[in-house]
Amino acid sequence: MKLSPALEKRYTGEHFTAPDAQRLAEFIAWGPVVFQVSRLMMKFGILDMLRDAEEGLTREEVAKKAQLSDYAVKCLLEASLSIGTVLINPETEKYAISKTGWFLLTDPATQVNIDFNHNVNYQGWFYLEESLRNGKPEGLKHFGPWPTIYEGLSSLPEQVQRSWFGFDHFYSDSAFPEALEIIFREHQTRSLYDVGGNTGEWALQCVTFDKDVEVTILDLPQQIRMMQQNIADKPGAERIKGYSINLLDETMSFPTCKDGIDAIWMSQFLDCFSMPQIVSILRRAKAAMTANTRLYIMETLWDRQRYEPAAFCLTMTSLYFTALANGNSKMYNTTDLQQCITEAGLGIEKIYDGLGQGHCIIEVKNKK
Ligand SMILES: C[S@@+](CC[C@H](N)C(=O)[O-])C[C@H]1O[C@@H](n2cnc3c(N)ncnc32)[C@H](O)[C@@H]1O
Repeated sequence: MKLSPALEKRYTGEHFTAPDAQRLAEFIAWGPVVFQVSRLMMKFGILDMLRDAEEGLTREEVAKKAQLSDYAVKCLLEASLSIGTVLINPETEKYAISKTGWFLLTDPATQVNIDFNHNVNYQGWFYLEESLRNGKPEGLKHFGPWPTIYEGLSSLPEQVQRSWFGFDHFYSDSAFPEALEIIFREHQTRSLYDVGGNTGEWALQCVTFDKDVEVTILDLPQQIRMMQQNIADKPGAERIKGYSINLLDETMSFPTCKDGIDAIWMSQFLDCFSMPQIVSILRRAKAAMTANTRLYIMETLWDRQRYEPAAFCLTMTSLYFTALANGNSKMYNTTDLQQCITEAGLGIEKIYDGLGQGHCIIEVKNKK
C-alpha cells in the first residue's frame, strides 16, 4: 500500500509520548460523552458566547446567558476543560474558548460531521458489533426495515434526512467546480450518465455549465422521484432525465444511448457497495461504454489524503456504512478500486488528486 506523505509519517510508527498515549486511551474510553458534551456546548450557545467575550465569562454569567442551572453549566464547563475546548483563568475564574473549541465552532466540516454523527449514526453505532459480525446494517433497524439506508432515505425523519444530505452534499459539492472543468473542458461531453445522481445537484451543475449536454440520472425509484421534485423549474431541468434502477439487481443493465454515451459519472457512489458488487456494476457500465466513453469515478480515497484529519474522517465514515448504510461497503483506498476496475475489464487512464475536500477522480477507459 502506498500512503500519502502525511499518512506515511503518522501511520507507520509510534509518535505519542507515553503520557499522550495514555491520555488518548482515556479519551477513547470516554468518547461518547466527550462527543455529547461538546455538541451541547455548541447547541446551548456556550462556545459561541465564550468566543464573543473578550475577557471571558464566569460560570454564573454563562448560566444566566444560556438559561441553564448552575449545576448543568458546572458539569459542562468542567468536562470541557478536560476535553480541551475551553480554558480557565484561575485568578478570575473566567472561562475562554480554546483553539480546539474555536475549530469545533467554526470549521464547517466539523459541524457537518457532528450533525451527521448525532442524528444519523449515534444510536446505530451501538450495533456495530452485530453489524460487523453479520455483514448487515443492524443499526439501521431503529429507523426502518429497509435492507440498506438508500431505500429508506426518502422516508427518514426530517432531521435525520437533513443531516444525511448535509453530509453527502458538503463533501461532494466542494469538488464539483473542479470536476466540471475536468469533464467538460478536456473533452466534448454531449451525453452523460450520472449514476447514483441522488437529488440531481451535479446534473443541474452540468446542464448549467454546458448548454448542450443531456444528463440521465440512474438511481433507485424513490430517489428519482425526489430528484424530479428538486430539479423542477430549475434552469436546464428539461435536459435531465431520470432512469429508475436498482443496481444491486445484477440482471439490470445500464440504459442504451443511440450514439454511444460520452461520459459516465459516479460520484461518492461506489463506496455504497461491496467490492464484488462494484465489479458487477462496473461490468455493466463497461457493456454500455464504447471505446470513446470516459468513466469518471469520484471518491475520497483515504490513502491519498494530503492531511491526516481527512483520512481520519474517512476511515471513521466506513463504520457508518457498516452499521447504518448497508453492512458491507466502505471508503476505499486506491488499491481496492484499482482491483475492482481491472476485474471488470476496464483500465485506469489517469487519477486527478486534491479536488474539493480531498476527492480524487479516476478516469477509466474501456479496454475492449
Ligand atoms: C452517497 S450518495 C451519492 C450522491 C451523489 N452522487 C453525490 O456525489 O453527492 C449515493 C447514491 O447512490 C444511490 N444508490 C444506492 N444504492 C443504489 C442502488 N442499489 N441502485 C441505484 N442507486 C443506488 C443512492 O440512492 C444515492 O443517491
